[in-house]
Amino acid sequence: MTITARASLAGVIGWPVAHSRSPLLHGTWLERHGIDGAYVPLAIRPEDFATCVPALARMGFAGANVTIPHKEAAFALCDELAPSARRAGAVNTLVFSDGRIVGSNTDGAGFMANLRAHGVDPAAGPALVLGAGGAARAIGAALLDAGVVVHFCNRTGERAARLAAQIGGGVIGWDDRAAALGDHALVINTTSLGMAGHPPLTLDLARAPAGLAVADIVYVPLETPLLAAARARGLRTVEGLGMLLHQAVPGFAAWFGVTPMVDEALYRAVAGDLLA
Ligand code: ATR
Repeated sequence: MTITARASLAGVIGWPVAHSRSPLLHGTWLERHGIDGAYVPLAIRPEDFATCVPALARMGFAGANVTIPHKEAAFALCDELAPSARRAGAVNTLVFSDGRIVGSNTDGAGFMANLRAHGVDPAAGPALVLGAGGAARAIGAALLDAGVVVHFCNRTGERAARLAAQIGGGVIGWDDRAAALGDHALVINTTSLGMAGHPPLTLDLARAPAGLAVADIVYVPLETPLLAAARARGLRTVEGLGMLLHQAVPGFAAWFGVTPMVDEALYRAVAGDLLA
């Protein structure tokens, strides 16, 4: 689509950024809604982040997404932080508004929206969060804020204990993860295990209750070995790509003024690119 001199501008800041699917995702929505706007990749080095972000605001950008490795730097740089960002300790969405840089974190809400889109009620019972990194923190906080009982389970136990002390929830030992499934309605892999090029997550589903929902935030491959094993057992599964799509909605709405839909066509467009 062509743009005019009045186009609204946004983008994704990362280093590197070439792997990001966000330009395709937002570009699909811009096209769908016939919006005079552009969403571009912004390859910014860590040492340049603090000078480039205010410059983007002064250049008239409406805002930007922030991805690896800048999410904590964005947190430190914002003039204003939404509660979601404070809870997550990281920022993935910037809105430039009246000379101020406003940061939020949409990962937790994106995860919850994806759960609901799959017909999984997060309030059905306790959730077991595997991992204790940034993604575990954003997702754990969103679940806790929705009133869900959360247990963190991480290879490095102290990290899970530190996270639980900061945001709430309990801790389960890494070696007890399979035995603990029976006490949970939802298990979520937030580690890098199962991602292409990484070892799979070993989780024996033999003792999983029939009502257990299994979610993964890894989306390369689209179906991780964990999700394939869960599906083979007839368990409900929630794949990671949906979270990526849903976490993008609030930024697009803020920058371009339209709340876009996450639907099958969008999923196919991004999944098709991942498989290409
Ligand atoms: P992010 O911020 O994206 O969540 P991270 O902070 O690097 O990334 O966290 C990665 C998570 O994957 C951690 O929970 C990590 O466990 P440790 O805290 O013990 O390092 C987990 N992880 C990575 N490789 C793992 C492996 N081989 N076995 C178990 N957990 C692993």
